[in-house]
Amino acid sequence: MRQLEREIAESTLDLYVPEILVGSSEGIDAYAANQVVELIKGNPNAVLTLPTGSTPESMYEHLVAIYKKGDVSFHQTTVFNLDEYWPLSPAHPASYASYMRSHFIDQVDVSPENWYIPNSAAADPERETKEFDALMQRSGGVDLAILGIGPGLTCHIGFNERGSTADSRTRLVELDSETIEANRRFFSNPAEIPTHALTQGVANILEARKILLLVKGGGKAAGIARALTGEVSSDAPASFLRFHPNVTFVVDYEAASKL
Ligand code: F6R
Repeated sequence: MRQLEREIAESTLDLYVPEILVGSSEGIDAYAANQVVELIKGNPNAVLTLPTGSTPESMYEHLVAIYKKGDVSFHQTTVFNLDEYWPLSPAHPASYASYMRSHFIDQVDVSPENWYIPNSAAADPERETKEFDALMQRSGGVDLAILGIGPGLTCHIGFNERGSTADSRTRLVELDSETIEANRRFFSNPAEIPTHALTQGVANILEARKILLLVKGGGKAAGIARALTGEVSSDAPASFLRFHPNVTFVVDYEAASKL
């Protein structure tokens, strides 16, 4: 049994008080991009877990701009994405593979063989997620995981919806109806909105050496307050981040309004 799973099973995990940084939305983007750049300058072989969604869009803009100035190279960096819809064509404009290509991968020098995202068209999602998990294990561990948090009180991280356990690993999940509703805006044809996804588990996320949770907008205020001040439980998967000794919640003024 892996160390983290044993500690969770034996309830010997410690709870930590996360670092909380509050600032403007623009300040968050610059801070997150800077954390990535500093890490990679110090360790070009760093391994990242990266999110999609509206929250990190400007972080990627900063990273691309810094790369284009010649101030950083991602050539030796490994990227694991947090999650992907299933089933959906990877070429669909709303797939997370398409998002990553247009916002980051195709604009910088990440080597295609160093970028891993679950295959949204996998015929056998169980096999796909097991292989993805094994690749993560073999990577030597994630140095920095950047996350967003789900809408309302879903408190999801990756697509670990309510009910996910702290020892969950990469797997096929059913999306919460609130998540499906929030993601409707990315699909011109509502019939195409996926009801399932492939996601890194909570345990994969907690195994990262450092975690940044980016939180923006008033729609996240109740969720972030729940995650930070409520019980640590499957009712709010983001609350499990309090098991991690090196996590920073990076929150804009609107999202911090209930803290
Ligand atoms: C996306 C992901 C999700 C999002 C979350 C917030 O890869 O893992 O957990 O981070 O749903 O999405 P936005 O940023 O669109 O509010």
